[in-house]
Amino acid sequence: EGVRQRAFTGSLPGQGRVDELLHEAHARYAALQDGVVADYIPVLARADPDRFGLSLIGVDGATYEAGAADDAFTIQSISKAFVFALVCEEIGHRAVHERVGVNNTGLPFNSVMALELNLGSPMNPMVNAGAIATTAMMPAASHDARWEAIRSGLSRFAGRELAVDTEVYESEMRTNTRNRAIARLLEGYGRLERDPAAIVDMYTRQCALVVTAHDLAVMGATLADGGVNPITGVRVVAEEVARDTLTVLASCGMYERSGEWLFEIGLPAKSGVSGGIVAISPGKGALGSFSPPLDPAGNSVRGQRACAFLSRALGLNLF
Ligand code: DON
Repeated sequence: EGVRQRAFTGSLPGQGRVDELLHEAHARYAALQDGVVADYIPVLARADPDRFGLSLIGVDGATYEAGAADDAFTIQSISKAFVFALVCEEIGHRAVHERVGVNNTGLPFNSVMALELNLGSPMNPMVNAGAIATTAMMPAASHDARWEAIRSGLSRFAGRELAVDTEVYESEMRTNTRNRAIARLLEGYGRLERDPAAIVDMYTRQCALVVTAHDLAVMGATLADGGVNPITGVRVVAEEVARDTLTVLASCGMYERSGEWLFEIGLPAKSGVSGGIVAISPGKGALGSFSPPLDPAGNSVRGQRACAFLSRALGLNLF
């Protein structure tokens, strides 16, 4: 109990200072030209590489924004963190741990080889295989009810009703042969008890939910706040679930770069291919970032730099 309480304490510097540093982070990296916008989902290739938004929200609800914090983009892999939390809330983290695991694969997020090397274990809920298995574990009376549990659950994290970008969803459904193969392989290993095609469809929808950097900061701040949304005051998940989610993000949230990320930045975080990153400082708050150009592992370049700067400048780093 004592240890868990300690995970959710701390405070941000004074408000004027946070605002100043957030704007400094934006100004420092806005002109950075490294990275490439994802194009394996065809519609994502149209994203404007120059858009850059930052939002930081404290566990007291204090909100700081710089740049394009209200630009809409699809949540993509960042959904995996929050679906994992919702499924743990429903069935307990032991069950998810046994089926999916909590160790890093050391391989890219869409690796088929990782599944084969590990006898069908997806290893963790943050790679595509583990996320597909986790989505399938959401208890519900029907397929539609399962989707609604996911959509409305993510909406409670965000504090507003989230909706799917149909164009991105359809674009990915036309090209996601690899995720379909991963789901079939999971089925072959006896690790997916539902129809693989239907689950990939749902996973693809969950990735196409539209958010902003501000939404990501609210969602992250809900985990930082031990499961209570600091804007709406609604408890979304139990404190233990928030803690369990943060541990998996620390080990696996930035894919095969998670070790380097923890070494350099020292915060649980999750990235998505449309350019979002959420980084969480337990007990203090969370940073939401949006900038489409990515590094080779699929992590936003400006987002990483801004997180590194702010983690140090604001004393967010856990270590
Ligand atoms: O399944 C996929 O490939 C995408 N819907 C999400 C991947 C993703 O965001 C990886 N992130 N860096």
